[in-house]
Amino acid sequence: MQTLTITKPDDFHLHLRDGAALASIIDHTAAQVARAIIMPNLKPPVVTTEMALEYRDRILAAVDEQYNFEPLMTLYLTDNTSAEDIKTAGENKSIHALKYYPAGATTNSDQGVTDFKKTYKALEAMMEQGLPLLVHGEVTDADVDIFDREAVFIDKVLTPLVKDFPDLKIVFEHITTRAGVDFVLSAKENISATITPQHILLNRNDLFKGGLRPHNYCLPILKVENDRQAVEAAAISGNPKFFLGTDSAPHERKHKETGCGCAGIFSAHIGIELYAEAFDAVGALDKLEAFASHYGADFYGLPRNQEKVTLIKEDLTIPETIAFGDSVLVPFRAGETCSWQLKK
Ligand code: NCD
Ligand code: ZN
Repeated sequence: MQTLTITKPDDFHLHLRDGAALASIIDHTAAQVARAIIMPNLKPPVVTTEMALEYRDRILAAVDEQYNFEPLMTLYLTDNTSAEDIKTAGENKSIHALKYYPAGATTNSDQGVTDFKKTYKALEAMMEQGLPLLVHGEVTDADVDIFDREAVFIDKVLTPLVKDFPDLKIVFEHITTRAGVDFVLSAKENISATITPQHILLNRNDLFKGGLRPHNYCLPILKVENDRQAVEAAAISGNPKFFLGTDSAPHERKHKETGCGCAGIFSAHIGIELYAEAFDAVGALDKLEAFASHYGADFYGLPRNQEKVTLIKEDLTIPETIAFGDSVLVPFRAGETCSWQLKK
């Protein structure tokens, strides 16, 4: 039997929700990773340090005591985030970044930024504090094709932003295109990117395999095979600019299987296993540990984890549904298998 022992991973992009929903899913993550960057797109969004610390307490209270899990909190950047808000955040060791959503881009993003110029005071303060900006890199203009949103964002928003703030630490979240990979590769070392399992394993055909597949719908949307190949190549490249962020984003089944379904794929139950499968498929298992457990921590200035985990190459059957609040969600690979599993 093939096994692989690596430093315990971290997840640098995760949605946990709140209340009963949070309580029902948090242990899927806590069983896998030591730390996770927690997305602030609650309703209302987490916009102040005080709100983030309260959210952190709720997360910690929900984690089963057998796990030693550390949530790395983020704030939601808005047009109104002040330099003072950034100073307060920068001085708090539990706050690790600010998240930029273009207004209306995705789930709970109505309070996102309408114009980057409105955030320049906050960005200046972030640069001073060394706080990274986590970017949802899509434009939301109705006339831009959904498959082009990332590439247009690079040209129209990200390139000018980087010109104005050359030393701002930026994580280009969940990159999905060759253009995104090329942008990060050509940027300085203060710009990195997270990569999800679905954007390595799937392309846009998987949205329509035998019929409409709402559980493969996330934002940024799956792209063409050529883009998938570029994202896969980046993940296995051994370049420290690219690291693990699942973007696991749970939604109740009824909000996915409906006339106008939510974006988001839940993968927290098999996050690291999916990456192991993807890296193994292209003979790159030797690159998994650094991608999953070193580069992200290094970028954020965090110590690497000491603990180890062992992966076993053995089919794991994924349940059809997973409990979510007082309902259920349909997880990634529901009813199918994953070819790797974490040793319990
Ligand atoms: C995320 C969610 O559901 O919160 N959905 C998604 O498709 N990734 C929001 C996001 O990060 O875009
Ligand atoms: Zn996300």
